Amino acid sequence: MASKHNLIFVDAEIEKIKTNNLYRKLRYGKIKEGHITINQKKLLNLCSNDYLGIPNIPIDIKQLQASSRLVSGNDESYKKLEDKLAKHKSQQNSLIYPTGYMANLGAVSTIAKKGDIILSDELNHASIIESCKLSDAKVSIYKHNNMEDLNKKLKQKGINKFVITEGVFSMDGDLSSLKQITELSEKVNAITIVDDAHGDFVIGDDGRGTPEYFGVSKKIDLYISSLSKGLGSFGGYVASQNNVIDLFINKSKSFIYTSALPSFLIDHSLKRIGSNREKQKRKLEKNVVHLAEGLKQIGYNITSTTQIIPIIIGDEKKAMIFGEFLLNNGIFVQPIRYPTVPKNQARLRISVTAWLSDKDVDRILGIFEKAYRKFS
Ligand SMILES: Cc1ncc(COP(=O)(O)O)c(C=O)c1O
Repeated sequence: MASKHNLIFVDAEIEKIKTNNLYRKLRYGKIKEGHITINQKKLLNLCSNDYLGIPNIPIDIKQLQASSRLVSGNDESYKKLEDKLAKHKSQQNSLIYPTGYMANLGAVSTIAKKGDIILSDELNHASIIESCKLSDAKVSIYKHNNMEDLNKKLKQKGINKFVITEGVFSMDGDLSSLKQITELSEKVNAITIVDDAHGDFVIGDDGRGTPEYFGVSKKIDLYISSLSKGLGSFGGYVASQNNVIDLFINKSKSFIYTSALPSFLIDHSLKRIGSNREKQKRKLEKNVVHLAEGLKQIGYNITSTTQIIPIIIGDEKKAMIFGEFLLNNGIFVQPIRYPTVPKNQARLRISVTAWLSDKDVDRILGIFEKAYRKFS
């Protein structure tokens, strides 16, 4: 059907996206454990954020609520989960948001104000970038994980200074230099914020996250994370001192002006936290080494040491063809392109999960070997 006259400009915009090989369309599938079925074809799923692959826990739907937590949506189960998450992050308190994206928007835009300065890693996730834009603070981008550049930029003036970084970078799988970041922050009394969506429940003792792995948990002033990745549940949260959480309850818009998560999801997260995460974590670690070492042996340039393993292709069109080849051979890996990653840095972002068996990993390696011969 032809576009309405007043919406013709949308066609032009979509055409431009297509010309640049950046067009995206929704693919429908059914996920079950380590597989995804698309068009009746069962594929090994290497695109899942359910890193720990905690065996399915039935969901007990008692009630769906539709109210803000400050109105009547504050089920008692929130207190239990927030206490657990605060302890998990060695902080006084925590606060659950509907998603990790909303946690970033609500937290950063509330705590950073006009006259402040935020130092943000150039590869930070879109939700961090948007959260910085929403605040009235000046935003200064430092080169990716580059401590010299951060140190230099921390010398700029600001009433309050903030440093914000991911713990495990979502598209590269590398770890943020948190030990140095906390040292540099301390020197200028800056506030350190870590979005550990991809390190939480996966890295560090008891899955406490990237700061714990580097021994700096207590030096982090504000944590932002997701319950929808390593834990395989749903929601987002922040953890910090009591006064910061109090401020968010009072002023954070994406906390106040939206409906609370239904209590069955809070109960579900509690069950998952209480499950045998250690066993899943060990399985995940084994799978990561198996796959990463195998890919290196084939000839791929793999530098990541985490469950996020990117294979950088560069050209957007080539990345799409590579992805299609894998799909036709029974593996689902979504090519990642601009604007999620910089232009000409398109990649296949493999995410390893504990759902994969040793046999699955061997099969994946066999197909990547075929792909290597075809595309390099
Ligand atoms: C670093 C980072 N922060 C936040 C989010 C958002 O988390 P959620 O999916 O819970 O909204 C993501 C999601 O991909 C992420 O990669």
